[in-house]
Amino acid sequence: MISRPFVLLTTLLFLLSNSLAFPNYADVLKRQEVEEADSRTGRPFRPVDPPSPPRPPRFTGAKLVHDPAHPWMPLRDGDERGPCPGMNTLASHGYISRDGVASPSEMVIAVQEGLNMENKFAIFVTYLNHLMNGNLVTDLLSIGGKTSKTGPDPPAHAGGLNVHGTFEGDAGMTRADTFFGDNHSFNQTLFDKFIDFSNRFGDGFYNLTVAGELRFQRLQDSIATNPEFSFKNVRYFTAYGESVFPLNFFVDGRQTEKKLDMDSARSFFEEMKFPPDFFRSSMPMSNQGRADIFRMHPFLPGGNVDGKVNNFAVDPASATFETPCVLYDDILNTVQGLGFTSVFNDQCPEQSPYGQE
Ligand code: HEM
Ligand SMILES: *[C@@H]1O[C@H](CO)[C@@H](O)[C@H](O)[C@H]1NC(C)=O
Ligand SMILES: *[C@@H]1O[C@H](CO)[C@@H](O)[C@H](O)[C@H]1NC(C)=O
Ligand SMILES: *[C@@H]1O[C@H](CO)[C@@H](O)[C@H](O)[C@H]1NC(C)=O
Repeated sequence: MISRPFVLLTTLLFLLSNSLAFPNYADVLKRQEVEEADSRTGRPFRPVDPPSPPRPPRFTGAKLVHDPAHPWMPLRDGDERGPCPGMNTLASHGYISRDGVASPSEMVIAVQEGLNMENKFAIFVTYLNHLMNGNLVTDLLSIGGKTSKTGPDPPAHAGGLNVHGTFEGDAGMTRADTFFGDNHSFNQTLFDKFIDFSNRFGDGFYNLTVAGELRFQRLQDSIATNPEFSFKNVRYFTAYGESVFPLNFFVDGRQTEKKLDMDSARSFFEEMKFPPDFFRSSMPMSNQGRADIFRMHPFLPGGNVDGKVNNFAVDPASATFETPCVLYDDILNTVQGLGFTSVFNDQCPEQSPYGQE
């Protein structure tokens, strides 16, 4: 049910980002301005024609990824880290630049190599984030906050993965809602809840049952405490995916049962570190299990309205798992809202070319 339209969306977005936005972006967005800013700041930024998205690697089985070539190192001043424990960990092991700034193609290669994320899915997630929060002229994206390391500001906004309301959103498992101030750092209170739920529903392990219960509980928490709670469109899709990521990517690839022990969980979520001797998954992974946890507690997209807690209203305009084309439109709107209107308006007369499907 879910997977076919989602694959279509993935392909579409990929085509959009690949054939439309990227190759001629540097021209569209005033190459000149960048070069001027470049000579002013003396930073070595050049407009980049991005390479094609990476292909799948040849070998896609389990292997040691916490290896001598990729030692964990502590953060240095100025290193960027953000809401995603996957990208944080890859940066802290040098699978992408340790400063947390890299091109989307480097990120795709890193998630494939270090965590065995499936190629098309990796491309979708990464380029979607790049479109929304990256610098398309210099082809660089920050996995945390805004930084001058992605290049001079105009014309790109390039806020990094921390920007709320793009990919980052409410009701994360170990990150608090933006309303409470910090939307991207590891939150001990929330991790205690992660452990508590793993004890109550998984005998001390995070498994699919825990994932479903915790996902639903985090939604109830936000409804009860966050007057600005919003959970729709991109966030609605990604939150369910992120709930199964710890099973699909953080469980050692030699282990047959998909359940995560708490030491390994803390290692990834808090320390941004592979557990000792960690092997990546034994096959390329993406969203496996997402439909199962959704079925445990079906929940329609929406948010608290009128700035009041306990005032959740379903938003009928939001995409659901049955209407991914709406998600595609929303993504276009978000990207346009970030200041890329002219690029898309000229070239995207058809907003939902597969409505006829
Ligand atoms: C195998 C690779 C990946 C893994 C294992 C992973 C894992 C996760 C997990 C578990 C979360 C939820 C954190 C929480 O709720 O506490 C998350 C959030 C996030 N991830 Fe990743 N991720 C991966 C790849 C990526 C990529 C490629 C990007 C973009 C370049 C990305 C961007 C994000 C962002 C922006 C969030 C924050 C969403 C929120 O507000 O909760 N992730 N990731
Ligand atoms: C951690 O999350 C809780 C629950 O969302 C929130 O009340 C608290 O302010 C957060 N703590 C920090 C340090 O952000
Ligand atoms: C996300 O958190 C950071 C750091 O606490 C904060 O500076 C930023 O304003 C937050 N984003 C939003 C949109 O609240
Ligand atoms: C998760 O673990 C609990 C406790 O061992 C078990 O009852 C439940 O069936 C497990 N869930 C799955 C999907 O395996």
